[in-house]
Amino acid sequence: MSAPTAAVGRAHPRLEGREKVTGTARYAVEHPANGLAYGWAVQSSVAKGRIIRIDITAAMREPGMLAVLTHETAPRLNPAQSPELLLLQQPRVRYRGEIVALVVAESLEAAREGAQLVRIDYDTEPHSSVLTERHPSLYKPEHVNPAYPTDTCVGDFDSGYEAAEVRLDQTYRTPAYHNNPMEPHAATASWADGRLLVHDSSQGSRDVQAALGRLFELPAGTIRVAAEHVGGGFGGKGSPRCTPVLAAMAARQVGRPVRLALTRQQIFGPVGYRTPVIQRIRLGADADGRLAAICHDAISQSSTIEEFAEQTAVLTRALYAAPHRRTTHRLARLDVPTPSWMRAPGECPGSFALECAMDELAVACGVDPVELRLRNDTEVDPEEGLPFSSRNLAACLRDGARRFGWADRDPAAGVRRQGRWLVGTGMASAIYPARTPGASAEAAAGPDGTYQVRINATDIGTGARTALWQIAVDALGVPGDRVAISIGDSDLPPAYVAGGSTGTAGWGLAVDRACRSLRRQLDERYGGSAPPDGLSVRVHTAEETAALPRAPRYSFGAHFVEARVNVDSGEIRVPRMLGVFAVGRVVNPTTARSQLIGGMTMGISMALHEEGLLDQRFGDWVNRDLATYHVTACADVERIEAYWVPDEDRGNPLGIKGLGEIGIVGSAAAVANAVHHATGLRLRTLPIQLDKLVDRLPLG
Ligand code: MOS
Repeated sequence: MSAPTAAVGRAHPRLEGREKVTGTARYAVEHPANGLAYGWAVQSSVAKGRIIRIDITAAMREPGMLAVLTHETAPRLNPAQSPELLLLQQPRVRYRGEIVALVVAESLEAAREGAQLVRIDYDTEPHSSVLTERHPSLYKPEHVNPAYPTDTCVGDFDSGYEAAEVRLDQTYRTPAYHNNPMEPHAATASWADGRLLVHDSSQGSRDVQAALGRLFELPAGTIRVAAEHVGGGFGGKGSPRCTPVLAAMAARQVGRPVRLALTRQQIFGPVGYRTPVIQRIRLGADADGRLAAICHDAISQSSTIEEFAEQTAVLTRALYAAPHRRTTHRLARLDVPTPSWMRAPGECPGSFALECAMDELAVACGVDPVELRLRNDTEVDPEEGLPFSSRNLAACLRDGARRFGWADRDPAAGVRRQGRWLVGTGMASAIYPARTPGASAEAAAGPDGTYQVRINATDIGTGARTALWQIAVDALGVPGDRVAISIGDSDLPPAYVAGGSTGTAGWGLAVDRACRSLRRQLDERYGGSAPPDGLSVRVHTAEETAALPRAPRYSFGAHFVEARVNVDSGEIRVPRMLGVFAVGRVVNPTTARSQLIGGMTMGISMALHEEGLLDQRFGDWVNRDLATYHVTACADVERIEAYWVPDEDRGNPLGIKGLGEIGIVGSAAAVANAVHHATGLRLRTLPIQLDKLVDRLPLG
């Protein structure tokens, strides 16, 4: 790097890009260890019941077999821990696919073979695995994730809605979605001299370290968890998972390092998924589309093991003005795996319902969908009454409309044909919270004029390592080639999980503060020269972040989509998708764009392809690989563009808002709205697939 400053804002390739493409970057199960053994998970074949007998005799006769861990033989874990992680501790089965044994052998092949030979007898019980509006277990959780009120109410929705000139009342359904990072959940664990080392594919090694500490009753200092390179997460690796726990249990049992990777099929359930959601939206407006009343009621599921209450309706609290408003969340506890985080948990399915409903309102009022959003824009948070730290939704809508060429759009649906294709366009708004959690970081100067920055941030493929390095380079004011950064290890200064689009904002602030403080001390004590014995500074930013002004703070965006539907086959294509976002200060345009188009691509996937198909007889998904659970591939994505508008906001001292999740929010609604405009058909249940369209299309 020649330029000593202004690395922030410049495109820069990933620092570890070369290691990754040449295969030298090590992922969780690529770390070598002496005497390595291999684990293979055995899953329950029933959805609910009790193990009455596990016969491991045949498995143990296999050559190379070391152990079979079951609820009878596995090491005991301290129960003061998330029930999800209390693996192999008791005979109850709570969902089909629950891990009920772990086979450990000299080779992966032997472990896999042994797993086929474990015989399990169950006492089965009737199970309930399908979410419905009237499920008997529905209840109101105390709060929804991460700590939002379950229900909110402002004004008087019922009378506001009754009095409205235009009323819309619709229900939208989304299925279970499964995170499919390229690298499945995986860990390598080894015990040496009473210390546990785990290489884990995780979004936050510090949380994994803390969980292992509680489970094995060990002080944190005796556990090291490293996650130097992670092959995608999207939330699925955001909480400590079964893999590091099972690997550590097995390693302790057999007295050797153990490597455990789940298969693609095994990640469909046991490590979380996005809950199916049933959402009822009611909108009351005047004839010009100005909202008087909004109500968003969301029903989702959790397991009997743990409560996971997705924050589906939370975005409706902040997106549009309306004097009368209500949001509610209800949860059913089913005999299924516990749902978990998946990119923009809550906002993603919530925006599908709200933004489809807004499109329906636009049609009902005869108002252009972009204009409808502009008319209902608000300078203050509509529930809290406080001004937003910055709100550039209108700029995203206008800039997106201009770039996309929206102005000449004919509002009539189902009337444009190009050959055998019906053509339409649709749009949707996006919103996602911008938070700045506190973190620790260390910056050190060496006598040779080099700098070392250390923080336990995690780069799950986003480019976080590079963005943090850019922030460090600017704060130190030195050429980039003198600055090295270490992340992804619980031995580094503690920082929180890679989640909630907070990484660059919060970790970045800690890195900035550590580097500026180091710079200041170097200038004062050494006149800016290299310190002969080195100098190191460590900061923690919790006080600074806690003192930030309490303004409602969000990223915003607007999606524009062109859809084509084949009149003969019902095939749906998305030839063009364009998003404009207001995301504060962008640190690295290359990696930022990747995040945004990645989220938008997942939106196409959600709208048209992904669907966990559950067979209620077995209480389990039948499509559990990339052949039968289709994730958008390159051939499904044609022209895709992401832009951002200026978004000055000091709600974070560096002006950074974060952009990992905003790209998916609203994206599926924009596709669904475009399909409606193309065909005149409104599909309120995802995914939209050709069998739902083909016999309803206007032929001729
Ligand atoms: Mo993201 S779903 O907060 O990892």
